[in-house]
Amino acid sequence: MKKKIETLKQRREQALLGGGKARIEAQHKKGKLTARERLHFLLDEGSFQEIGMLVAHRSTDFGMEKEHYPGDGVITGYGTIGGRTVYVFSQDFTVFGGSLSETHAEKICKLMDMAMKNGAPVIGLNDSGGARIQEGVVSLGGYADIFFRNTMASGVIPQLSAIMGPCAGGAVYSPAITDFILMVEHTSYMFVTGPNVVKTVTHEVVTSEELGGANTHATKSGVTHFACANEIDAIQHLKKLLSYIPQNCEERAPSVPYEAGNELRPKLDTFMPENASQPYDIREIINQVIDADSFLEVHKDFAENIVVGFARLAGRSIGVVANQPAFLAGVLDIHSSTKGARFVRFCDCFNIPLLVFEDVPGFLPGTDQEWNAIITNGAKLLYAFCEATVPRITVITRKAYGGAYDVMNSKHIGADMNFAWPTAEIAVMGAKGAAEIIFKREINAAEDKEAKWLEMEKIYSDKFANPYRAAERGFIDEVIEPAETRQKLIFAFKMLENKVVNLPRKKHGNIPL
Ligand code: COA
Repeated sequence: MKKKIETLKQRREQALLGGGKARIEAQHKKGKLTARERLHFLLDEGSFQEIGMLVAHRSTDFGMEKEHYPGDGVITGYGTIGGRTVYVFSQDFTVFGGSLSETHAEKICKLMDMAMKNGAPVIGLNDSGGARIQEGVVSLGGYADIFFRNTMASGVIPQLSAIMGPCAGGAVYSPAITDFILMVEHTSYMFVTGPNVVKTVTHEVVTSEELGGANTHATKSGVTHFACANEIDAIQHLKKLLSYIPQNCEERAPSVPYEAGNELRPKLDTFMPENASQPYDIREIINQVIDADSFLEVHKDFAENIVVGFARLAGRSIGVVANQPAFLAGVLDIHSSTKGARFVRFCDCFNIPLLVFEDVPGFLPGTDQEWNAIITNGAKLLYAFCEATVPRITVITRKAYGGAYDVMNSKHIGADMNFAWPTAEIAVMGAKGAAEIIFKREINAAEDKEAKWLEMEKIYSDKFANPYRAAERGFIDEVIEPAETRQKLIFAFKMLENKVVNLPRKKHGNIPL
């Protein structure tokens, strides 16, 4: 008996060493943690339970039968974060470069199946050289098995991907299907084809970092939702993110204890600039309204004309979507529409109520936008809001112009409560442009065209550049003093707590992709 236990201990020890001391050192030299160290920092102390520690690959080609590392390059199991169960896999770069073999994939699939049955999030820590080259098609099959499960799990359990090393070729498509991607600056990259292939095919010379580093994907492509300074920072982000998200689609968004106090925010009454064209940072309003320090911004450096993120209001988790007047005047364009749409759909999947701040001058004009399908992409945001059944509240702070008024969670597309500040301007377009079109004749006939234009602009502005026309129609439920915003939202979200909406029976909708 003792000997048998000794054998088990030895096997376990071997597994804990991954690809061996030299490769672990090499990993550390690159500024990276090992797969096990990452799990140690991610999970509650002592909570990790490993599954499949002794799994070995079955490959016999290229001398692989002589090279066995227990676990086969991925550590899988479950544990807790803040006391809540999560399923995790952590790819071990020290074993065949963390490459994905048939058995490596089987381990991940087994874990995902368990997570689905038990309704808990899956977190993937990716650090892999891609498909196990020695195995060929069985490895590719393994990827597809994972992609299929990612898709089946989408909207059922949250799936989070942290990229902590290479992630190239087909490997990118598993994270891409998951709900959130976090990348580590300077030590991780994602691309479909690397710099060498790019050079051969397009003759572009580009580094891995430029092509697919964290900052590239956080600013240019929007592939990653978070660019983290280092691995520990990424792990902290994972934990924080999870704190806003329920375990699965059947559960309510989590809340934290909250003590009611004075909910008025008088600062907001003097916040809005006198000149309606003057920019301001919408984050300042968001931070006044939500619980102190509770904002976790998503996609912070991508499509900055829209701000999205998680927050808490009176302790409850909410999703915030807000036009950003400080960037491109808060206009809606292709990237901001897709960014907003994806976030709205995530919140709706996981019962996270939506709060929208609106100050939008319309859609961005131009050939670039039209030729790259602002029509289709703008429709994504519209569709996402229309379809969302979670509690939905809008606060119009200033401009709500044109089609963008409809899109930004208007009453007409199912918002539950629509508030407007007295500074709101709800109209087809800005008064200057409107006057030019509808009073064209009067302006042209006038001796002093400029003066006439200004006069007509004022007439239009007095009539429409306010929230009262919309309030008279009931499109706005209440015009509120800015200082009251937080208080009104707390009451309204509480009132909407048990909202139930059933969508028409269908296989699935056909969102314009
Ligand atoms: N299959 C099998 N083994 C792989 C592998 C893969 N896809 N990728 C890396 N490895 C192995 C290497 O042979 C090496 O083994 P060793 O420790 O026994 O020497 C180890 O992993 C580390 O790789 P190495 O190339 O030394 O690390 P690096 O940090 O210099 O480079 C990569 C990392 C990922 C850029 C490089 O390994 C690479 O280009 N891999 C192939 C990527 C690919 O084309 N994948 C298939 C497409 S999905």
